[in-house]
Amino acid sequence: MIGQAKRLSELIKSEPHNSVATNKIIAVASGKGGTGKSFFILNYASLLSSIGKRILLIDLDSNLANIDVMLNITSEKGIGDFLQNRVLLNELVTEVRPNFDVIFGDSGKLKLPIKRKEIIDYLFANIKKLAQNYDKVLVDTGAGVQTDNLYTLSKTDYIALVINPDPTSVMDGYALTKLLFSEYGKRELGVIVNKCDDAEEGKIAFGNLNTATSHFLKTKLKHLGTINYSSNVYKSIKNQVLFSEEYSESNLVNQIKEMIF
Ligand SMILES: Nc1ncnc2c1ncn2[C@@H]1O[C@H](COP(=O)(O)OP(=O)(O)OP(=O)(O)O)[C@@H](O)[C@H]1O
Ligand SMILES: [Mg+2]
Repeated sequence: MIGQAKRLSELIKSEPHNSVATNKIIAVASGKGGTGKSFFILNYASLLSSIGKRILLIDLDSNLANIDVMLNITSEKGIGDFLQNRVLLNELVTEVRPNFDVIFGDSGKLKLPIKRKEIIDYLFANIKKLAQNYDKVLVDTGAGVQTDNLYTLSKTDYIALVINPDPTSVMDGYALTKLLFSEYGKRELGVIVNKCDDAEEGKIAFGNLNTATSHFLKTKLKHLGTINYSSNVYKSIKNQVLFSEEYSESNLVNQIKEMIF
């Protein structure tokens, strides 16, 4: 474990050489649901905070926010309370671990008004202010290519597209990339291939997506890494424990640690 932490810290020290790593507000995205966005971003946040990075994770999945459930924390207030002018954004911050703060969503509590551009602009103006207190702000989003979701993504510094290796997921990733680029212009996009049998499967799926975007959208993507499939992921979510803590020595945790962006 000490060896792994040291390696992660060495990787992070080399950040200035990596253009992606300097981005502060980072979101995960996917075409269809269930690719592993929340699993990834939560564990990535936890691993970064464990080596001393100050992390804020914001659950902006306006349909089915569930970071609170995954952390086994009952959240009294969520982002909807800010959007309805009941509280300031910084009043929603909950410290879940040292260096690791979360702003929870509002799953099932109310229909969030994160549908209009002005609301998203207002939210991100406040997120940017809050970001001054952190090394990274990580944003979990809902799946899909609807306008409010794409606009939310467009407001972040960096997007990590989470896909699975099957062809339909690759196509969904392509569709999201195409719509995002056509609405908001081309930008560097990172891709994580989750639920793979092995590194080779991740490489092939990324290659297929990259071939399509290079050919049709004239843009190359960046392969941030591959995460294997493991039944322990489901177990950790079912038992409401953090995978990165419960399975800290696992191959999957090492794969997530390798992804510094
Ligand atoms: N590497 C993995 N191996 C096995 N199962 C996984 C892996 N990653 C995620 N899962 C499983 O996939 C399901 C969806 O994961 P998760 O909720 O993180 O996806 P999501 O992209 O956030 O979904 P949504 O779009 O609905 O928010 C969960 O049941 C989780 O256990
Ligand atoms: Mg999710």
